[in-house]
Amino acid sequence: MIRVDLRSDTVTHPSPEMRKAMYEAELGDDVYGDDPTVNKLQDLAAERLGKEAGLFVSSGTQGNLVAVLAHAERGDEVLVGDQCHIMNNEAGGTMVLGSVILYPIKTDEFGFLDPDLIRAAVKPRDYHKPPTRLLTIENTHNASSGRALNAEQMKAMADAAHEKELSVHLDGARIFNAAVALGVPASDLTADVDSATFCLSKGLACPIGSILVGSKDFIEEADRWRKMLGSGMRQVGVVAAAGLVALDSMIDRMQEDHDSAKRFASRMAEMNGIGVDPEHIQTNIIRFDVPTHTGNQIAARMLEEGVLMNGGDSELRIVTHYGVSDHDYEFAVSALDRVMKEIV
Ligand SMILES: Cc1ncc(COP(=O)(O)O)c(C=O)c1O
Repeated sequence: MIRVDLRSDTVTHPSPEMRKAMYEAELGDDVYGDDPTVNKLQDLAAERLGKEAGLFVSSGTQGNLVAVLAHAERGDEVLVGDQCHIMNNEAGGTMVLGSVILYPIKTDEFGFLDPDLIRAAVKPRDYHKPPTRLLTIENTHNASSGRALNAEQMKAMADAAHEKELSVHLDGARIFNAAVALGVPASDLTADVDSATFCLSKGLACPIGSILVGSKDFIEEADRWRKMLGSGMRQVGVVAAAGLVALDSMIDRMQEDHDSAKRFASRMAEMNGIGVDPEHIQTNIIRFDVPTHTGNQIAARMLEEGVLMNGGDSELRIVTHYGVSDHDYEFAVSALDRVMKEIV
C-alpha cells in the first residue's frame, strides 16, 4: 500500500475549502470572456505578479508554450538554460509547434545564467543566423534542487537580455516557493521579466491549471495561441475557483514544505551512500546522489516500503508538499534509512 507519495508536488489534492469553492463557483463561457471566476483569478494573478493581465492555461507546459509562441516567430532563436524544464521536459513543444530554435546556455548549480553568457549567445543580425528574440529563465530551478533566484539575479539576467533587445519569459512554475523562501513578494521576482507563468497545480495544491501573465497586448496574443492549441475553455471557473483559494491561503503554508525538505535532507545527509547538502535545499525539492546504478533499485525498494519517489540511475528526487504529515515524513525517512543500509 502506498503510504507517502513524494514524487512531486503535482500529486497534491485540493483542500476542502477549494472543493467547496469549486462547487459554489459562479460560471460563464470563458471563450466569450464571460466566466467571472476565471476573470477574477486572472486579474488577481496579474496583480500578484505586478503585470497588466493574466491568462488561465491548462498546464505549466502550455503556459510556457503559449508564451514562447507569442514572443517569437518561426525561425527565431530562444535562449534557454541547458538544465531548464522548457528545454528538457516539455516534449520539445516549442521547437515542434513554434518552429523556434532553442539555444542552451550553461546553467550554474543554483539555476543562474551568467549575464555574459547570455550576451555572448545573442547572434549578430546576419542572414546566416536565426534572429535571437527571447530569453527564458526558470525560478525556482527544478534541476538545481529547487533553488530560488533572488531579485538581483533575476534583474542581472533580464538586463543582459533586454540590452540586446530580447524579450524575457520566466518559467515560474514554483515562483511562490521562491518568494516564500526569500521572504519577498513574488512581484519582486517578476519585476524585470516581460511575461511569467506559474502553476496552480503544484505546491499551491489546485487540481488543474497555470496562469500566464504579461502586458495586455501580450496576453491578447497569447490568448490567440491558446485558442489555436485547443484550450479555449468554457465554464472553467469550476477549476479557477480553487486557484482563488490557493492565492489566498496556500502560499504562506509552503514554508512548512521547505522546513520539511530541510529536515528530511539533514537526516539523509547522515545516511550511508547518500550525497546531499542540506544547506543547498532552499525550497521543496531534494535531489540527492546515490551510487551509480542503484537509484532505480532504491526507488523500487522504497515502493515496497510504501513510499513513492522519482527514480534515476544515480540521482533520486523527493518533493515535499501539502497533505503529507510530519508523521508521514518520519515514516519515509526511516524507510529510506533501512533501504540504504540494505542496498549500499
Ligand atoms: C519548472 C517547471 N516548469 C514547468 C513545468 C510544467 O508544468 P505542467 O506539469 O503543469 O505542465 C514543471 C512541471 O513539473 C516544472 O517543474
